[in-house]
Amino acid sequence: MEYFFSDRVKNLKPSAIREILKSAGTPGMISLSVGNPAPEAFPAKEIAEISAHVFQERPIDALQYNVTEGYLPLRNRLSSYLKERHGAGREFDDLLITSGAQQVMDLATKALCNPGDVVICEAPSFIGSLNSFRSYQVRLRGVEMESDGIHLEKLEQALREEPRAKFLYTIPNFQNPSGITMSAEKRREVYRLAKQYGVLILEDNPYGDLRFTGEEIPPIKALDEDGLVIYAGSFSKVISPGMRVGYTLAPQPIIQKMVVCKQGEDVHTNIWSQLICEEFLKNYNFEAHLDRIRGIYRKKAELLLQLAQQHLAPDISWEPIEGGLFLWCSLPEKIDMMDFCRRAMEKNVCVVPGNAFLVDESQPCQSFRINYSAPTDEQLAQGIEQLGQLAKELLY
Ligand SMILES: Cc1ncc(COP(=O)(O)O)c(C=O)c1O
Repeated sequence: MEYFFSDRVKNLKPSAIREILKSAGTPGMISLSVGNPAPEAFPAKEIAEISAHVFQERPIDALQYNVTEGYLPLRNRLSSYLKERHGAGREFDDLLITSGAQQVMDLATKALCNPGDVVICEAPSFIGSLNSFRSYQVRLRGVEMESDGIHLEKLEQALREEPRAKFLYTIPNFQNPSGITMSAEKRREVYRLAKQYGVLILEDNPYGDLRFTGEEIPPIKALDEDGLVIYAGSFSKVISPGMRVGYTLAPQPIIQKMVVCKQGEDVHTNIWSQLICEEFLKNYNFEAHLDRIRGIYRKKAELLLQLAQQHLAPDISWEPIEGGLFLWCSLPEKIDMMDFCRRAMEKNVCVVPGNAFLVDESQPCQSFRINYSAPTDEQLAQGIEQLGQLAKELLY
């Protein structure tokens, strides 16, 4: 049988990089490639208690259909949390519970973009979102990053040159993959430019609560007096990605369209998971939990930086980190990045080649991404030592 796929998806392919990463799960491989939270960061005992309680007290609520917008007590709790903690949310906004933040990217594009429209994104950016945008036949326009966030002049140039730009996709905190955080000044400028050019902002913030050093910076959504910002949040990195609970705070007309789109996708987000998240926020000390996991990541990041200093410097450089799960490393020009990543695999260490995160994977790239949350301390030590040795073998 010959299968004829839709124009929307027929050109989507698993990338060459995916092929390299396929063996990430083979026994003995030290995987520094996935974006998984640290296993010890999961509040497993609390989730077990809450699950038992939910099934004793209200099993039907957990097992029955629910509304597409999401479980109302959870929506209310999140709206208050975003307002009180981040100053985000105005009268014109509404909140929708989604199946992970990933679904926000899908719903936003489905609701707003026609084929041929343009989505402006940071370069590099999160591959899962880029693929979601691509599946709606939009054109991606990447804008270079600096160490304090997106390059403003290049962003303005892109806004000037792309009249079909529908939104700017940005990950302002501990960006995946670069780890970069956008400064407060840049957030204000990005907002001003978006307003001037009449382009929406899709602000993706799954790592915002994972700051382990430095001053917290309010999200762009906190500046939103004009209904320009669609904010995406998630419990994936702070409770559990397996539960698939995310949310979006956005102007009501956009939420209403997203709700209709979501009905056709999954009817509603897993209600059982929503009840557990709500009870966690209500009956447990969420701030204390965040402090605990920030402590885990701070310790891991300190170890990683110490190892990097010992084994990677001065040949390999990296972006400073203040939170999140990733370290973005850059190789000297004399080393071919893809060759380095392949040889690292042969030494049983898996990292992600940086061009996977570009709009055009064929563009030159000297960087690769390391995840430090999922490996054990021993794996991290072994993996970083191997990477350092490999760089030396290739250079000297
Ligand atoms: C920047 C970014 N956005 C969104 C997601 C998707 O998260 P979720 O599990 O909430 O769908 C991830 C996951 O790694 C991510 O890194």
